[in-house]
Amino acid sequence: MKMRPGAQTGFLLCGKEWVDGEAIEVRSPWDQGLLGKVTVATRKDAREAVNHAVASMRRLRALPRWKRKEILEDIAAALIEQKERFAQLIVAEAGKPIRTARVEVERAILTFKTAAEDVIRLGGESIPLDLTEGNEGRWGLVQRFARGPVLAITPFNFPLMLVAHKLAPAIACGCPVILKPAPQTPFTALALGEVVLKAGWPEEALAILPLANEDTAWLAEREDRLKLVSFTGSAAVGWTLKAKSGKKRVALELGGNAALIVHSDWAGGDDAVLDAAAMRTAHGAFGYAGQSCISVQRVYVHRPIFQSFLWKVVERANKMVCGDPANETTEVGPVIRPADAERVEAWVKEAVEAGAKIVESSAREGSVLAPTILTGTRPGMKVHDEEIFGPVVAIEPYDDFEEALAMVNHSRYGLQTGLYTRDAGRIMTAFRELEVGAVIVGDTPTWRLDPMPYGGVKDSGLGREGIRWAIEEMTEPRMLVMAGV
Ligand code: SIN
Repeated sequence: MKMRPGAQTGFLLCGKEWVDGEAIEVRSPWDQGLLGKVTVATRKDAREAVNHAVASMRRLRALPRWKRKEILEDIAAALIEQKERFAQLIVAEAGKPIRTARVEVERAILTFKTAAEDVIRLGGESIPLDLTEGNEGRWGLVQRFARGPVLAITPFNFPLMLVAHKLAPAIACGCPVILKPAPQTPFTALALGEVVLKAGWPEEALAILPLANEDTAWLAEREDRLKLVSFTGSAAVGWTLKAKSGKKRVALELGGNAALIVHSDWAGGDDAVLDAAAMRTAHGAFGYAGQSCISVQRVYVHRPIFQSFLWKVVERANKMVCGDPANETTEVGPVIRPADAERVEAWVKEAVEAGAKIVESSAREGSVLAPTILTGTRPGMKVHDEEIFGPVVAIEPYDDFEEALAMVNHSRYGLQTGLYTRDAGRIMTAFRELEVGAVIVGDTPTWRLDPMPYGGVKDSGLGREGIRWAIEEMTEPRMLVMAGV
């Protein structure tokens, strides 16, 4: 798939590119230039994709493990060969700074490599059944089987890596996928689709359909032959989709307003250690303009080091290079749409009107917002309660560690929390008390390694990704009972 200004790219269905039909324009988040157009799939196309997916199950069931492993390894190898091509696609359509885009490609490669290794571990378990009188000689085998066709829906912010998190586990366990990429970033998904088919994954087992949101919801609601709806995106859309999905299993990776706790014992008076934590904080809050579900949005700092930490983050934020994502030095690029830049500004304004203070910010240039640091925020303000998805962070002091934990939990979200403390007691208390999917000690909540279980509690989601865990979502256990054999 190539982006050629004005040219129309088709969607991918049964190994073919379907170009004819209504198209949407895909524009650069940096300068709004036209990158290309993509054909919008219709409900009829979606039904056809489901027909193919259902039909492919027979072939997928017969696809041996070595072949699935080989396909995954070949995809990883192709991505290694085409690293720069994929990085440039991500820069163009997602507006992600080039160095961060290259990291995303590396993460996608690791995801496919890990899935290839996980194929080997897809075994089963023998279960003793001679446990009551009369059942002598009985035993059982439990094995996980692919559930069936997966409807995967992915967001704009990691157009390669989050698509990889749907496709890699599906290939590992043999589920066909109908993927609906974000309308802002279809080209990366389509390019990955080509790679997947070239590696030998059956054509009828993958469709990449830029569907309208209402048609995607219609599909989730009406098409019972789909067995799993796996959605990554906003909480509002995710939970609505779940309500419509009937008997289908639903996996949701949703948003958050991730928090970080910085306790004074972390640095213990060592300025360089506090500097490093402040640098990670700025990176976690402002990198890729804060457009990650685990961007640092709320920071709670132990009062004895509050002022010093705050100014260190300000100092680091001031040094961050903002602007054109194609430049090698850029750290903060544009937010995805001009309307989002306006929304983020409006939320900051609303917080200031309600009593928050801006410690650091500067004027917006187009869709590029400068890193913004607030203090004096509180629950009730959107910058505190909602997922901001922009380069804005609130930094607040606390006196007691327990108070910091309570502030983190004072949220309808719960994805990941970062924790700077060296005290084992505090670490274990936080691990026990925090209502999140992961506690990251010694770093920010923005840290993630792709093979680890990833997902949230409360409004942040349902189920886990991170290949092995996604395979669990995509498969179901089946029992074989042996008697008299
Ligand atoms: C997300 O924003 O959903 C994923 C963040 C990550 O994997 O780093």
